[in-house]
Amino acid sequence: MNAPLTRSLDARYYTDPAIYADEVQGLFASTWQFAGHVSQLDDTGDYFSFDLAGESLFCIRGRDGQIRTFYNVCQHRAHQMVQGSGNTRVVVCPYHAWTYELTGHLRAGPNINAVPGFDKSRICLTEVRTEIFLGFIFVNLDPDAAAMDDWFPDARTELETFLPHWATLEPLEWVEIPENCNWKVSVENYSECYHCALNHPTFSTGVIKPETYDIQPQGYCLRHTTECNALDRMSYDINSGFENNDRYSSWFLWPMFSFQVYPGNLLNTYHWRPVDADNVVVWRGWYSVGGAENETVRGMAVQDRETTVEEDIRLVESVQKGLKSRGYVPGPLVVDPGCGVSSEHSILHLQRWMREAVTARDN
Ligand code: FES
Ligand SMILES: [Fe+2]
Repeated sequence: MNAPLTRSLDARYYTDPAIYADEVQGLFASTWQFAGHVSQLDDTGDYFSFDLAGESLFCIRGRDGQIRTFYNVCQHRAHQMVQGSGNTRVVVCPYHAWTYELTGHLRAGPNINAVPGFDKSRICLTEVRTEIFLGFIFVNLDPDAAAMDDWFPDARTELETFLPHWATLEPLEWVEIPENCNWKVSVENYSECYHCALNHPTFSTGVIKPETYDIQPQGYCLRHTTECNALDRMSYDINSGFENNDRYSSWFLWPMFSFQVYPGNLLNTYHWRPVDADNVVVWRGWYSVGGAENETVRGMAVQDRETTVEEDIRLVESVQKGLKSRGYVPGPLVVDPGCGVSSEHSILHLQRWMREAVTARDN
């Protein structure tokens, strides 16, 4: 007996604003999400704000050196606390000047001592789960969420073997790529290489060895591995002096972030930032030691933007249009029991997570 075919997700998952709204409230608010890099918060009192799941949040470094994340809302009458980024000794609300410690505890407020029974020790900004993962700040709005090492088993230790110098890495360049498609169309496109041979000539011939490419789940991580092609013909020197300098690998952390390491132990990242059901902005991060100028990294960023990224934009935008066609019937995924580059087994896992994320909230 053959197993039943697995069909791709219904088009409405990618087009229906109600499903998107459900994801914002459910999935985005209960998974580990990238907030920023620790190098943005070098000094005590450094902070930056950001948006996630329809919320404004901010990360700030305390006097104890710890980075904390708070909802960006005053516990008096709900004014926003900070905007953008900066440095501060204490966090002062612009509305009535209630003042909070860097730990979020209320420190003072005009005339609050005149209020009988006012106990300022009971008032604190609402803190959000925060983890530092190899210098990257991740947050989870679910206070009961399992730790990142449980979600993504072995990813941290594997990355350490590819990036022994991770603690010295800082962002050198951000490339912002708006795509007119649902975030899941873009993530799926990233998560299979069935389309690579036809659409990514540079990547397929210049970086990876397609016959060795595979993508396998590790918890909620999708791990891409491959041997590399013609290392002697690489356009840059990959002799970093580190182990694994001759490998390409990537760790996609469900649902919206990926660490990718190119030969020569070069780190780059993807961060999908959904805008609405039909739009996502992909941020590509490129890193160098101390964030210092680095010709190789800049060159990689340009080559990537001009080839793989450009090629993918056309694909995902065409798919988004197609998903709105009355003529589209979701087709079977090409799941090869032997896996490999021409198989969509990785999409099978991804779509299972996508389906779960929405049905979990139907109950
Ligand atoms: S709302 Fe913040 S001090 Fe009043
Ligand atoms: Fe692609």
